[in-house]
Amino acid sequence: MLGAAGEERLCAYVRARTGIRILDHQMEIVRRVVADACERFGLADAETYLTALENGPGNSPEHEHLVAGVTVGESYFFRDQTQMDFLRRVWLPELIERRRDSGDRHLRIWSAGCSDGQELYSLAILLYELLPDMDDWNLHLLGTDINTAALGRAIRGRYSAWSFRATPDDTRDRYFRRDGPHHWQISPHLRRRVKFAYLNLSEDNFPSILSETNALDLVLCRNVFIYFDPVVVGAVMAKLRASLVPGGCLLLGASDLLESAAQDGFDLHALGGAFHLTRQAEPSRPPADARGAAPLPEPVTTDRATPATPSKPEIERPAAVMPPGPAPGFEYIIQLLGREAWREALIQIEHRQRAGDDSAVIWQFRAKALANLGRAREAMQACEHSIERDPADKHSHFIRALVFMELNRLPAAEEALRRTLYLDRAFVEAHYQLGMLQIRRGRRAAGLKSLRNALDIAERAAPERRLHDAAGMNHARMAAILRNELRMYEDGHDRKGGHRP
Ligand SMILES: C[S@@+](CC[C@H](N)C(=O)[O-])C[C@H]1O[C@@H](n2cnc3c(N)ncnc32)[C@H](O)[C@@H]1O
Repeated sequence: MLGAAGEERLCAYVRARTGIRILDHQMEIVRRVVADACERFGLADAETYLTALENGPGNSPEHEHLVAGVTVGESYFFRDQTQMDFLRRVWLPELIERRRDSGDRHLRIWSAGCSDGQELYSLAILLYELLPDMDDWNLHLLGTDINTAALGRAIRGRYSAWSFRATPDDTRDRYFRRDGPHHWQISPHLRRRVKFAYLNLSEDNFPSILSETNALDLVLCRNVFIYFDPVVVGAVMAKLRASLVPGGCLLLGASDLLESAAQDGFDLHALGGAFHLTRQAEPSRPPADARGAAPLPEPVTTDRATPATPSKPEIERPAAVMPPGPAPGFEYIIQLLGREAWREALIQIEHRQRAGDDSAVIWQFRAKALANLGRAREAMQACEHSIERDPADKHSHFIRALVFMELNRLPAAEEALRRTLYLDRAFVEAHYQLGMLQIRRGRRAAGLKSLRNALDIAERAAPERRLHDAAGMNHARMAAILRNELRMYEDGHDRKGGHRP
């Protein structure tokens, strides 16, 4: 048993590492988790366990056990009928029509705090029903969570009857095949449309092209904030806002009542008993970073031909304003890129280019900013200019690979990643992306090998050394994420291919 001071330390640890606030009535659960952990890991007492957590790498088995114990993973298919009907009948059809008219058939959706994957698969089913030409669309359907055991179950895609309590039987039977007397397995065709990854909403950086959390049309972050500390909610909301394209939609859970401050930069729309939020073009105040540090990413504009909000007129991209004075130095631009202030960085980059800088590096910076702003085609052109000027710069090849991925040109992305690794065998982010890509293309064994390569490199590097292409991340954090990804893919079974059910 931990004393009162020990329990306070444990709650502080959970809050700092996950954003979750443990309330008094939940302490009994926490005590059970601690007792179970001591037995499972053969620890002398609760104090030893707490010390192991505090001094551990942050993704130790003890940490994972605690996360699994204190997170509430309750979820089911087609949860919240009102929101699902809104998506099915209004929001998605209108957006799809606009995208069809524009000839740019892409949709980007993120289930943040996806638990066992029911929410993301529900979206995949809705899209399947709305898109008879689904194969002609570039669909980015991402599910992330902090609980790797839940992610493993999401990847497996096997569910008990309880998950279908709001799903009509005929829908269940169309998209799942029975697997034993009480379980159903998601259709491989839908399984291969979605992607799951580890992401801690309170600690990890987003939006980022690296975690594919940028330029999103729709984010579902439902029934996650109810467990969060309110301060963390405000910071996460600001980052979610930055992840959306202007006019993009955020769905929260019906009980995720927000402090008014947390709604900054969103329009709130009532939906019967529920609500949805749409991203305004500009925030009404500068958002604060989760740890109160540097300001968050600038508002993200997009080169997508159609905005995400069907019911509103297109929001114009603000014209780049030429700042007064001499062109900025590289250091200032690097600083802006490091802070993920993409829009401001782009303005300064253009300023430098107009002043005559035509170097490979400035084109590479431009590509990076554009890619993160969701302006994929322009980013591709900038990569090509950069590579033309310096074919041996691994970073330009790497950004090009990420842009190919965003455009769903997976073979080209793989080739660009291999080129990056040819230039630098120890490029950890490239091994990581190659691994994720191979898994996505159905080559699980090769993918796991690439992820292990990435982990080896990340573990051998100095823990505090920053990664070049993942702002705000050092090698220790990358290693932690990789261990989580490996655990989740080794737990789950990624399945390949399939046909329409
Ligand atoms: C109640 S479930 C919600 C599942 C789904 N969104 C739904 O509404 O059905 C909450 C999920 O949030 C996840 N979660 C909690 N803290 C998190 C964090 N800091 N980062 C990412 N996910 C987190 C939990 O692991 C859990 O799977």
